[in-house]
Amino acid sequence: MMAMDLDALKRAAALKAVEFVRDGMVVGLGTGSTAKHMILALGEKVRAGMKLRCVPTSKETATLAREQGLTLIDADNAWVIDVAIDGADQVDPAFNLIKGGGGALLKEKIVAASAKQFIVLVDQTKRVPVLGGSFPLPIEVIPFGWGSTAREIEALTKSPVVLRERNGSPFHTEAGHVILDVHLARIDNPCELETALNLIPGVVETGLFVGRTDLLIVGTPNGVETYPATRA
Ligand code: A5P
Repeated sequence: MMAMDLDALKRAAALKAVEFVRDGMVVGLGTGSTAKHMILALGEKVRAGMKLRCVPTSKETATLAREQGLTLIDADNAWVIDVAIDGADQVDPAFNLIKGGGGALLKEKIVAASAKQFIVLVDQTKRVPVLGGSFPLPIEVIPFGWGSTAREIEALTKSPVVLRERNGSPFHTEAGHVILDVHLARIDNPCELETALNLIPGVVETGLFVGRTDLLIVGTPNGVETYPATRA
């Protein structure tokens, strides 16, 4: 599918998502090209008189949100988020996600975890029968000893682990950590893998979002599809 068509699907999903945002809410703002459409749509709502307070998941999102006239809450406050809306890199049939392609996974997970409702927006190309394969799993780790953390992850997953770089240097997250991208052929048990990875010293957070999605909104060429998550 052409990039332009995909962008239209992302925008359609974003327009659907903002229908769930009500006056007076505290909204968690995701990061990425899909979340961008949601922020633009919220900007329109605020300019039309809606009152919102927002928690951004990255500097990029904060800048765009400010440009759109959204009010941001001080990041050091203890907030209660009514709804967090974010994109994803992959979604499996149980609505588990891989996130972190843009490197914002840590703040994204903190915000998703503290939201009463977590809405995930994707175009249909992000849906996969099983996580992994075409998209590596990002893991945020402390720079100190990252090589030995990478070895531990390699031993656990039996998969290649690559330090993410940008312009020839290690990519640093906003929290000053580095990212290891793990090339797993398939993730059959995301819950078990997330738990095992989080037990490795040096691992700060993984890009696996397991059992967190409350509502999945998918942009398809035939229209927007909305799926509430069913909890076991
Ligand atoms: C940012 O770190 C990611 O988790 C994004 O939410 C994810 O990569 C989706 O981005 P796009 O909407 O740009 O595909």
